[in-house]
Amino acid sequence: MTASAADARRLAAASLAAGDPTGWFEQLYAQARDGQAEVPWDVAAPSAHLRALDLPAGDGRRALVVGCGPGRDAEHLAALGYAVTAFDISATAIDLARGRHPSSSVDYVVADLLDPPVAWRHGFDLVLESNNVQALPADIRARAITVPGTFVAPGGLLIVLAAATSRVDSDGSGPPWPLTRAEVDAFASDGLRPISITQVDAAGTTLPTRWQALFTR
Ligand SMILES: C[S@@+](CC[C@H](N)C(=O)[O-])C[C@H]1O[C@@H](n2cnc3c(N)ncnc32)[C@H](O)[C@@H]1O
Repeated sequence: MTASAADARRLAAASLAAGDPTGWFEQLYAQARDGQAEVPWDVAAPSAHLRALDLPAGDGRRALVVGCGPGRDAEHLAALGYAVTAFDISATAIDLARGRHPSSSVDYVVADLLDPPVAWRHGFDLVLESNNVQALPADIRARAITVPGTFVAPGGLLIVLAAATSRVDSDGSGPPWPLTRAEVDAFASDGLRPISITQVDAAGTTLPTRWQALFTR
């Protein structure tokens, strides 16, 4: 395990034990800002799995990035021409995103996937959920899975990118806790229907396969 993955698991374990399943994200970003930890997913390049989708130009269409962290995928979508809103539960992550991209057109917002702004309902042509639900434990995951679809406007697209597993029981390690097929199917909430759900090669990661799932309303 890398040092950064160990930092994440150490903080996640303590946070979960204290009954706060998402509190560790802010702790990890804050410790990393202070040079006391590393954020394993904080890499400069946008997700290779997002880039592999080869999305068409955004032409000003509205995109929402869930759990944006320091903003790598939000900036990628903005560069494609989307009008991007990007949110994260961690205020430090949002500060980092704004600080790293001072000229950005992206609207970076602190918000909670489990209690999102009502105005976002059916409000976006493209919604990206990449690698976030896999970092949430089982007790809040089922609820979290039902939310990204609620942001999708009629005719819009939800992209779900996540580590995959065929196990239905956790092996006790994590985060991340890879998603089962049934969990990916459950993103078709609130009237969404799947366009495609496929497993793709996870080259360059420590996990063997990944989900690439597309849904529309
Ligand atoms: C594993 S990281 C992935 C970050 C980014 N999506 C990426 O692929 O680089 C999970 C992110 O989701 C955020 N997050 C976790 N729970 C959240 C919630 N309930 N609402 C919004 N963001 C959340 C974390 O702070 C963290 O930035």
